[in-house]
Amino acid sequence: MYDVLVIGSANADLTVRVARRPGPGETVHGTDLTESPGGKGANQAAAAARLGARTALLARVGDDAYAELLLDAQRTAGTDVRHVLVEQGARTGTAMIVVGPDGDNTIVVSPGANARLTPADVTAAREVIAASAVVSLQLEVPPETVRAAAGAAGEAGARVVLNPSPVPDALDAPLLAAADPLVVNEHEARQLSGVPDGDPPTWARALRERGARSVVVTLGGEGALVLDAEGPVRVPGIAVEAVDTTGAGDAFTAALCVRLAAGVPLAEAARFAVRVGAAAVTRPGAQPELTLP
Ligand code: RIB
Repeated sequence: MYDVLVIGSANADLTVRVARRPGPGETVHGTDLTESPGGKGANQAAAAARLGARTALLARVGDDAYAELLLDAQRTAGTDVRHVLVEQGARTGTAMIVVGPDGDNTIVVSPGANARLTPADVTAAREVIAASAVVSLQLEVPPETVRAAAGAAGEAGARVVLNPSPVPDALDAPLLAAADPLVVNEHEARQLSGVPDGDPPTWARALRERGARSVVVTLGGEGALVLDAEGPVRVPGIAVEAVDTTGAGDAFTAALCVRLAAGVPLAEAARFAVRVGAAAVTRPGAQPELTLP
């Protein structure tokens, strides 16, 4: 039995910090390169396991040294990695990350083996899906795989948490309808709600009207806005000094999954998730140890 099953990506994060971001055509100096475990799916799994949840990860890595880096990190966090598949002859996914002086980041992902996680892999994992309270999904693996995972989780009676990142132009109706909650940042909320000029309550309402069962809009240091059948709840942020925001949204989503798996209401789960997200930004890397404020 698992509290949280994460189905998604695993990347090696190649990170450089800069004092100032380059403009188009410009070159700037950065710090030495760091190589660390990342990927939205793997980050969520590591955070959920660190928070004490029985956690499994369904993902695909290549047969290179980065795969070992990622698997070691998951084992250290306490994730069950039996469902992390190794693709012979493929490269593990990588993410090129630039962290600015305020801890903010920009990321380019090269999918590698993540692109080879298939609906057949989901079918083969149906027993672990059926044994999981919450299934957490993101969009760094092929969309047909995410759709298959949402469908299998729904059939098994597992609760689906969906973070539609990287954000697509639109989300198809079955995926939106599976999301309980849909977890979006402001950029994703604006894009997917079809309300470019709105505010968080407007985006959340529009996303529910489009089919999401519940919605959480993350607001960085300002906390989060939760909307479900009980109505909107604004969860205040927690002031911390941001060192690196990479993976903070993944830690937030993981914390939400952990509390939902324990059966607590969404707004209460979001209060905990805001604390976990705040803890995540105080340390470098996408899979930090989490000391809650
Ligand atoms: O959400 C942060 C993550 O996005 C990074 O770890 C990177 O790998 C990309 O997937």
